[in-house]
Amino acid sequence: MATETRPATGEDTTTEASAFEQLLDYGKDRGYKLDWLQPRETLGATLDAGRESGGLLLQDVDQGPFGQVPDFSDNLTGRPRGALERDNSPRVGNYPVRTKADVWLRNGAQLYEEAVQRQWSSATDVPWETLEELPDEIERAECQLATFLTEVEFVAGDVPGKWISYTSPDYYEPRMYLISQIMDEARHMDVFRKRALANGGGLMAQLNRIGAAGGVIDSARDFTEMSARLHISGEGSVLSLFRMGELMSYNEAEKSMYRLAASDESRHVAFGVMHLQYLAAADPDRKAEIHSYLDEIEMGLTAAADPQNPAVRGTDSNTSIAILMGGGADDQSLEDGQQMLLAVRQRQVKEYMQRVRVAGFGERFENGRANPVLEQYVRA
Ligand SMILES: [Fe+2]
Ligand SMILES: [Fe+2]
Repeated sequence: MATETRPATGEDTTTEASAFEQLLDYGKDRGYKLDWLQPRETLGATLDAGRESGGLLLQDVDQGPFGQVPDFSDNLTGRPRGALERDNSPRVGNYPVRTKADVWLRNGAQLYEEAVQRQWSSATDVPWETLEELPDEIERAECQLATFLTEVEFVAGDVPGKWISYTSPDYYEPRMYLISQIMDEARHMDVFRKRALANGGGLMAQLNRIGAAGGVIDSARDFTEMSARLHISGEGSVLSLFRMGELMSYNEAEKSMYRLAASDESRHVAFGVMHLQYLAAADPDRKAEIHSYLDEIEMGLTAAADPQNPAVRGTDSNTSIAILMGGGADDQSLEDGQQMLLAVRQRQVKEYMQRVRVAGFGERFENGRANPVLEQYVRA
């Protein structure tokens, strides 16, 4: 076999273009098709973003044509954003989400990178050895709450899942962020399942209401509608509850379980807030529609927060929270627990209002659009 020296690109004596032509001829003579070796416009470029703080991040490398996000995507072939097209590629996706404003957010890559860096393990990051025998009614309440949360976390992972395959690969940042969220929700499902089973209790009854709540979120036909219901409303309320997790905890294992889950939930809520913020700025014509989703969310929020509502007061999850916060199932403890539960509900409403303001829809609290019952919780 004859050995020959392969021509190199970028030699001083010739231009890049003629070097590429030489390569094509070289391959053609030997039966190779080398047109894929065409240099991209970024060949030889150096990164102007640092690798020192936090390592090499997506936002550092996505420069030039790779960082250009189209307002509308006609990419139905799974082509990575910025890669060159091939005419004969099959259509692998028929993505309903092909408009940037419908799914985008500022700093989506950063949020994804943060999610990857902050993964934790329910096996080793929760000090399960601190679990000890609890009074029966406390253990049962803990297990009922853990059963409720396991079911809630299932919805939180299940619902965004399908939107990943609905979204054009040109918007890969929100897609990958949602993948990270699903990993987070799987971990939340497993940590609450472990709590139910780890201390001599067990999974208790499934909820008779959450099925319907999950169904409402899942019935959304639009990504932003889903995101408002899931990230702003559902996960917002769960985050507010987890932030008060110390009040429901009887040991370090439970405290760290709520604390670790809350740090993930704050990222999930941030995604929803930043997406709404982007949409409000990029496509203000959709604001009226978004306000109607918020109307619906507020109806559910005020009903769920109303301690006089027997449907709310009587749910297994609320009663179990009241028992845990009050310290027992006797009348006085339950009454104390109900008062603390009311504080949780107030916090949920206040934090919801703050998120809506940050998202760019705060005018509803000034112009009378918002549910008037919310005000009672702000003043309380
Ligand atoms: Fe979660
Ligand atoms: Fe979540």
